[in-house]
Amino acid sequence: MTTFLTTPAAWPSILLARRDAADPTDLASAVRAGAFGGLTKAMRELGPAATIGLLEEAGLRGRGGSGHLAAEKWRAAARTPAKARYVVANGYGADPSVATDRALLETDPYAVIEGAAIAAFATGAEEVHIAVRAGATEAIARLEAAIVAALEAGFIGDDALESGSRIEILVRPVQGAYMLGEETVLLKALESKRGQPEQRPPHPSTKGLYGRPTVVHNVQTLAVVPYILRHGAAAFRKIGDPDAPGTILVEVRGPDGAGVAEVPLGTPLRDVIALVGAPARGRKVKAVVIGGPSGGILPASQLRTPYSFDGLRAAGAHVGSGSVVVADDRACVVDLARILTRYCADEACGKTIPCRIGLRRIAEIGERLTTGTSRAGDLQLLEDLSADVVGSALCDHERLATLPLMSGLRYFRAEVDAHLERGECPAGVCRPATLAPAAAAGPSTRASRAQA
Ligand SMILES: Cc1cc2nc3c(=O)[nH]c(=O)nc-3n(C[C@H](O)[C@H](O)[C@H](O)COP(=O)(O)O)c2cc1C
Ligand code: SF4
Repeated sequence: MTTFLTTPAAWPSILLARRDAADPTDLASAVRAGAFGGLTKAMRELGPAATIGLLEEAGLRGRGGSGHLAAEKWRAAARTPAKARYVVANGYGADPSVATDRALLETDPYAVIEGAAIAAFATGAEEVHIAVRAGATEAIARLEAAIVAALEAGFIGDDALESGSRIEILVRPVQGAYMLGEETVLLKALESKRGQPEQRPPHPSTKGLYGRPTVVHNVQTLAVVPYILRHGAAAFRKIGDPDAPGTILVEVRGPDGAGVAEVPLGTPLRDVIALVGAPARGRKVKAVVIGGPSGGILPASQLRTPYSFDGLRAAGAHVGSGSVVVADDRACVVDLARILTRYCADEACGKTIPCRIGLRRIAEIGERLTTGTSRAGDLQLLEDLSADVVGSALCDHERLATLPLMSGLRYFRAEVDAHLERGECPAGVCRPATLAPAAAAGPSTRASRAQA
């Protein structure tokens, strides 16, 4: 069962708007609350090109983490000549600590189905694959029942809404590791192939599932689309951030509570973390880890940062999985960064050497910092390795995996230095018995890098 956090009454709701208004297991109640109004408008009034134009006007950006413009993907898929096209809804939810996509599928499966059907209609795709983590049994059951109901009502199927368009929607339970959420890996899994990321371009929008043009979106991105169709681009643009209109689901976790909430993009971080309450008496917010395993660690001084794709990126974090974790002053940032970096190194698929070896070396630097075994030049080595890893990135995992340590270094330098130079963990988290000062904090060299 998902815990939903209470949000301020003034915050608009798109993704969870039907949470109280409609029964997720009953199509009629969802239709009364607006479901399939967007698809009807796209099919009966706008047509494919104007639907994509509206999406462009609305400035919808993908909720899967990177914030790419949705209309660009749709247009590329629609324009690429092909015998078949596909839409893939990414509901895998790679970050195991985040339940936002599962919560959406359980709460309003119709919004995802409708958004995917609009994408299929606009791009000329006949088949939609909704990928869901195999363990999310309730989400799968609700989706399957909702698809059957939408099919029986004629919203999808051989002649969807008598438009002449055929739209088949399939639920595809998938199970795997963290990397399975990456779109090119997910596409291979849907083809029952072993998956490692592929170099892009070509992007899936021109060469995706079975080599055909494929629009891949996070389930939230698709669930927003019907709102834009029903209410128009201007109404959508009034919500959220001018550069990233609309809302997004986040999973906020603090020492005293956790849950899923819908927040307008651009909301100051301070207001997002307030959803789990103030720190316990006598405690202070020390850091906020944003974006999941490859997330950035921001200090309390950055709480004015807007929760948006560009705002977070500028501060050294990213939307990523939608995870927002509040650490109070009992936490050690160096230790947090160590844990996240180790996870990222272990989850790297191993296809490219700079990522496979580089992330492992970087994780080892984190481990040396927290065990008092740091070597001279470790920080310079960290910076050099990070630049190399990011510079040679084949996929976004490699581009982002160094963020925890790099943002820790950027904002918590004194705490890092305490570990490195004095063998101290100011928060008392790292094992003090093993902490000892670095042998000598001399300048790093390429030679020290080669040894590492
Ligand atoms: C390691 C890794 C894991 C990812 N996991 C997910 C995921 O669980 N769900 C998701 O929608 N996108 C995930 N992504 C991003 C996808 O590759 C892709 O950009 C996204 O599904 C596109 O959807 P959007 O246009 O709605 O943002 C992941 C990316 C990486 C590098
Ligand atoms: S960059 Fe890392 S995670 Fe991405 S394909 Fe290469 S080894 Fe795999």
